[in-house]
Amino acid sequence: MCGIVGILGKHQVAPLMVEALKRLEYRGYDSAGIATLDDGTLDRRRATGKLINLSDLLVTEPLAGLSGIGHTRWATHGKPTQANAHPHQAGRVAVVHNGIIENFSTLRAELEAGGATFQTETDTEVVVHLCDSHLRAGKTPLEAARLTLARLHGAFALVFLFAGQDDLLIAARRGSPLAIGYGEGEAFVGSDALALAPLTNRIAYLEEGDHAVVTRNVITVYDETDAEVERKIETTDLDHLLVDKGRYKHFMAKEIHEQPAVLADALARYTDPSTGRIDMETGLDVSRFDRVVLVACGTAHYACHVAKYWFEDLLRLPVEIEVASEFRYREPPLNERTLGIFVSQSGETADTLAALRYVRAQGGMIVSMVNVDSSTIARESDLALPILAGPEIGVASTKAFACQLLTLAAFAISTASRRGTITGDREAELVRALRTLPELVTRALDLEPTIADLSREVAKATDVLFLGRGTMYPIALEGALKLKEISYIHAEGYASGELKHGPIALVDEFVPVVVLAPSGNLHDKSMSNMEEVMARDGKVLLVTDSDGAKAATGEPWAALELPDCAPIVAPILYAIPMQLLSYHCALQKGTDVDQPRNLAKSVTVE
Ligand code: M6R
Repeated sequence: MCGIVGILGKHQVAPLMVEALKRLEYRGYDSAGIATLDDGTLDRRRATGKLINLSDLLVTEPLAGLSGIGHTRWATHGKPTQANAHPHQAGRVAVVHNGIIENFSTLRAELEAGGATFQTETDTEVVVHLCDSHLRAGKTPLEAARLTLARLHGAFALVFLFAGQDDLLIAARRGSPLAIGYGEGEAFVGSDALALAPLTNRIAYLEEGDHAVVTRNVITVYDETDAEVERKIETTDLDHLLVDKGRYKHFMAKEIHEQPAVLADALARYTDPSTGRIDMETGLDVSRFDRVVLVACGTAHYACHVAKYWFEDLLRLPVEIEVASEFRYREPPLNERTLGIFVSQSGETADTLAALRYVRAQGGMIVSMVNVDSSTIARESDLALPILAGPEIGVASTKAFACQLLTLAAFAISTASRRGTITGDREAELVRALRTLPELVTRALDLEPTIADLSREVAKATDVLFLGRGTMYPIALEGALKLKEISYIHAEGYASGELKHGPIALVDEFVPVVVLAPSGNLHDKSMSNMEEVMARDGKVLLVTDSDGAKAATGEPWAALELPDCAPIVAPILYAIPMQLLSYHCALQKGTDVDQPRNLAKSVTVE
């Protein structure tokens, strides 16, 4: 959460930093700021709200300088006011920070007792006061930064800029990611390679506990013992990292419509049509584990929830799904026969990462499925499978969900095949089914005008229920999450059979109830649940296929007919109308689709 950037440039850095912050706005967008050094003097501009406010401020109050740091904030400690916006400054040092300083109140009391005057409600301000106190005591910037870092508890990334030091940034990583960019006579620091994409494609990632002394021509990295270390410089694919909305009004719309293409890419990578097999050389000893634990947060957790059905069916193993924030503190008993699967678009989600480390400490095997290949979760896994969705910028996850599901399905099929719990014929049948996805999803996207019409009515509701059975249950949960996130309409997902155990009390003529019910063995049961809703005047939107529509009982308010599909692909297909419905409800309500209030794309704090 929070995006940070630092530039030691050849040109004026303020406009470059605003550009870099634009690419980091997905990490937080409640305020933004930059600090530069002009002739060695520190100066700052900060503004609340979106980055555009900072850009406007810089027009009326420009900032000169070839060296600077910048920040886009997702508030943790202190409201999103201008005073709380980063960079923070005390005396000769300014700092940008991502993460949480857990012992800030102890440090603040200590610093205040020593005469420091605090200007903000943030945890970050202790960093600048601590560092400034060491500078005033005669320490060098590096010594002062190291002494400061030694006092901090928590998970964070920091970049320090010092008055009078035009060719110096100090960057530190503990728990939150930080990339160093190498230029020609220029140097950069950023929360990720995306921020630095137009500036350089030569990137090194700091590892846990590292700090770096960054100058234009020399960058020296030290590990947590202050020993100098080498970190590999990778060349990133700039074209891949530079993203725009294309012809779409929002990234979310673009990402929804990219799904046929990204699914086709992932299918090309993970399936082999000539053999009818999954092409996923994992190198795992599949006989080693007797239990699977799938761990993630948010939408990625719902992908795991779908996968539980597949894994149990295909692998015939006990499977648990876990919300990472609960799992990590519960300390469940695990052992070396546990396969831990961690799913994360960003690969940086703090709770998922902590859960991964817990499983590793228990001796379990770690497989991750991530969208950002260079992420911490990928790097700490025994096996990291890329989901191949391409950059996802909209805060509401859409194409990453589809690709997470596809990768989970491919992994389940390939592992089941190697464990001998499915035959080659069954594998070929499943692979054939998966390969229909791009076409099916394209046809589902054709429903958009109908869904846009329906959204006019749904957007008037204050509560919406989503119901599903089997793999449609997690899709109901995902549909409700999407609607809440971007339209701010209260929504809940339930297992259809659970409705009568309480939630049905919510149903009346004002409550739209989305019933996800493809034809198949659960259809009859779903129809009974739908009848129960309609008997109480609930406004049912049935989402089904042609056979499901024919066999539907009663008269739902509206129906959406998706193409017929094999059960294994249904969750991916049925998620599409859920995404479109939430998107169009958000348009009706005029909310900020790509950057909904209070949310950030990458949740790197607990
Ligand atoms: O980067 P991750 O996949 O680990 O993120 C997990 C959740 O924060 C994320 O899926 C969140 O729920 C999305 N905003 C959902 O649209």
